[in-house]
Amino acid sequence: MVVLAASIVTKSGKAVISRQFREMQRSRIEGLLASFPKLTSTGQQHTTVETEHVRYVYQPLEELFIVLITNRQSNILQDIESLHLFARVVTDICRSCDEHDILRNAFELLCAFDEIISEGYRENVNLSQVKSIIEMESHEERIQEIIAKNKEQEAKEELKRRAKQFDMQKKEAQKRGQGFMQGNFSSQNNYMGGRFSPALEPTVQTTMDSPYVSRSSTPPAPSSKARGMQLGRKPKSTDLFEAIKTEVEEPLLKSSRSSVSGGGMTKNPEGIHVNIEERVSLAANKDGGLEQMEVRGVLTLRVGDGSSGRVRLTLQAADDPAINFKTHPNVDKSVFKNEKAVQMRDTSRAFPVNQNLEVVRWKFTTRDETAVPLTINCWPSPAGDGSCDVNIEYELEADQLELRDVVVSIPLPAEPSVTVHSADGSYFVDRQRRSLDWQLPVINSSNKAGSLECNIPGENVDGFFPVMVSFVSERLICDVDVNDVQNLETDAPAEFTKDILLSADDYTIG
Ligand SMILES: *[C@@H]1O[C@H](CO)[C@@H](O)[C@H](O)[C@H]1NC(C)=O
Ligand SMILES: *[C@@H]1O[C@H](CO)[C@@H](O)[C@H](O)[C@H]1NC(C)=O
Ligand SMILES: *[C@@H]1O[C@H](CO)[C@@H](O)[C@H](O)[C@H]1NC(C)=O
Repeated sequence: MVVLAASIVTKSGKAVISRQFREMQRSRIEGLLASFPKLTSTGQQHTTVETEHVRYVYQPLEELFIVLITNRQSNILQDIESLHLFARVVTDICRSCDEHDILRNAFELLCAFDEIISEGYRENVNLSQVKSIIEMESHEERIQEIIAKNKEQEAKEELKRRAKQFDMQKKEAQKRGQGFMQGNFSSQNNYMGGRFSPALEPTVQTTMDSPYVSRSSTPPAPSSKARGMQLGRKPKSTDLFEAIKTEVEEPLLKSSRSSVSGGGMTKNPEGIHVNIEERVSLAANKDGGLEQMEVRGVLTLRVGDGSSGRVRLTLQAADDPAINFKTHPNVDKSVFKNEKAVQMRDTSRAFPVNQNLEVVRWKFTTRDETAVPLTINCWPSPAGDGSCDVNIEYELEADQLELRDVVVSIPLPAEPSVTVHSADGSYFVDRQRRSLDWQLPVINSSNKAGSLECNIPGENVDGFFPVMVSFVSERLICDVDVNDVQNLETDAPAEFTKDILLSADDYTIG
């Protein structure tokens, strides 16, 4: 009962992605997938086909096929059930199941595949479990559920109240010997229909993007985007990591390049370098209430050609189950989970040299106000002369952090001028962008709180929002760090350098 591989292939048998659950030569899997289309006669609705050595269990996925390759002793009913789960996971992760989308989501897909099959054997999971493992939204989702439930409850109560009112009116009318006014009834009905039923019904978002439009004869600009194993193209080396070249398009990396002191990854070209980066985005309302905070992190490893790639990194991280970690499919997941260490699944293999390898990613989403690192309060109050007195305060909530280059930027709605009465730090009026930039070079536990008081032209208190905040820090919110690196050939500690950077990405109040 062994599933050898789960693959998504084109109609011509070219692998888009493939995950092998047993040790297998790349050429072998490519050969098996290439011969798959010849075995399936078009137009027939079979779901399995056998050769002398293996069985293919498959189903179409729009223009592609999802295929499980199993040995011939495998339990076919269970494999078909697994196949359905694979297909549902794929359609769940990808908006449309074309090659482009599959490649774009290769990392997620391969991680999900690993949740379903382990070492060739089926894990006892269903779609919702796989989803909750990979989606990293579990916390967020729970809150959404509570909100939806509350809304539903409110709507029900409103309906009840209205029904009661309606009853009373009817009785009143009967008492007075009048007929109940039809107009009022129906208008209420509309009111209920229009206003309340949307909240009662679950909103199902249908994504009807045409999956075929983007499928031209030129395959979508390929390898730079794809991580995970990708067989379709012709790589220079056969190493699986070859395919995970850094994702230039991804904003996280793009801006990291500009923000990490001119490309921290080449600082130590011969040796081992670790780059740990986190970006925090936050949306708070004008009263300071948190709407959502999201932290995304990535740990990138680069092994220079003067070093051995057979290494193991020992990490530390905040012990919060709400932080959702993902490891690259070639990284040993259980070692990561149990020992907080990063090493290859097969420790006889080395991490490839001279490549920036995203080995771990994490995400943390919360509405818990106590998790906010820096709170900002902006209090405008009309002065009665066409201007507002504006009082802005900051407070560092995460004592362990030291925030640098903090800029709190307040819009100047009427004209680019301001009279500052008192200020911690310094300030600057940016006439072009029409903003007051309050600058604080360092915020740490020695100056946890501070304020700026000023008078700004403009009467509309909403005009002083949104307040935008930027900062950087060398300590992370999820507190991820690499404590040591061990050379697995010699079992000795290996030297390494590291860069750690937290930056505020879209930190907005109001
Ligand atoms: C998935 O499994 C979990 C745990 O066994 C269970 O609570 C849940 O209802 C299942 N979901 C579905 C859709 O079968
Ligand atoms: C509907 O009923 C309310 C009392 O519940 C009354 O005040 C209102 O005038 C009525 N409207 C019409 C259009 O009859
Ligand atoms: C806070 O930063 C200032 C300026 O860099 C420094 O002098 C001070 O020692 C720091 N305080 C703490 C508690 O680290």
